[in-house]
Amino acid sequence: MKILAIETSCDETAVALVEGDGSSFTVLENLVSSQISTHQQYGGVVPEVAARMHVPVLPPMIAALTGWKKGDIDAVAVTTGPGLSTALRVGVETAKALAVSWGIPLVPVDHIEGHIYANFLDRTVRADAFPILCLIVSGGHTELVLMKDHGEYTFLGQTRDDAAGEAFDKTAAQLGLSYPGGPSVSLAASKGNAEAYILPRPMLWTEDYDFSFSGLKTAVRNLIAGFDSPSDQMIADVCASFQAAVVEVLVKKTHNAAMECMPKTVMLCGGVSANRALRGALQAVFAKTDIAVLVPELTYTTDNAAMIGAAGLRGLVDGKAAQDPLVIDADSAKTLGGHWKWE
Ligand code: KG4
Ligand code: ZN
Repeated sequence: MKILAIETSCDETAVALVEGDGSSFTVLENLVSSQISTHQQYGGVVPEVAARMHVPVLPPMIAALTGWKKGDIDAVAVTTGPGLSTALRVGVETAKALAVSWGIPLVPVDHIEGHIYANFLDRTVRADAFPILCLIVSGGHTELVLMKDHGEYTFLGQTRDDAAGEAFDKTAAQLGLSYPGGPSVSLAASKGNAEAYILPRPMLWTEDYDFSFSGLKTAVRNLIAGFDSPSDQMIADVCASFQAAVVEVLVKKTHNAAMECMPKTVMLCGGVSANRALRGALQAVFAKTDIAVLVPELTYTTDNAAMIGAAGLRGLVDGKAAQDPLVIDADSAKTLGGHWKWE
């Protein structure tokens, strides 16, 4: 089956063609147009600007996909939420128009489920890889979820305040580093000493699988308030110390959850999965166990439509497609709780 996928939930306009059977997925084409340089001048994403910028860019990107001909696309997949309300609508209405005019089903895709399926792209994840413990770390989400099989999720825990990516973004802003904060903080951290400053490890020892990152951001603010005019090395040291604190908490909580759930695989999902320190630490902590660690290819870590195509193909197999595309709507506040089982 072949699916055309659209993603416009935040500041990336993305389209892709993905082929697969619902268990393995091949990316035929994957186009991403980033708005980051526009939002950088505001220090973060401005929702109305993001939505308006998707409008002129999306149709030519769809037209630029060459790997299909009339009649050989089985369905359209689109991110319906969570995300920025008006930005989502640009993708959703475009997807509806395509599906209606081609007379094919439309599959609504949860953006976070898309990040999970980024791990399935261009590789074979066998049935015996389940159950999979997913650590989801993006700009808006930090969650631990046990995926027992395709489409079967048990929710274990989440952040009580800032998401991991948000903590990187806010810390970068405090330090005068560019948006998005993850890449700029991790670049600076690579030149810094992670033991230079002692920063808190919020909720490291709690017995739940929840997280909290807002206090860490405040600790960084208090730390740098004591600096007169910090050198580049001091900024690098703060970044390294901050990153070490985030990574330690994420890895420890994931390890705790794994020891309880005994998954076959641990999977890293979402934009923060691009972080090399986190990828390395997660792989190291499970290296001597029977639990495999899967991280997405770097191109599929941040927002893209290939991951939406994979989740969409799986949704098609599982009967989640709408035969009447016009019933689909964007739902910006959609939470994973909508179809994820809470325990
Ligand atoms: O998944 P994503 O592209 O968008 C959302 O769904 O939110 O994630 C974006 C987040 C941003 O907060 C960004 O700072 C963070 O991912 N990020 C990183 C890295 N690359 C992107 N965080 C840490 N290290 C990175 N290398
Ligand atoms: Zn995302």
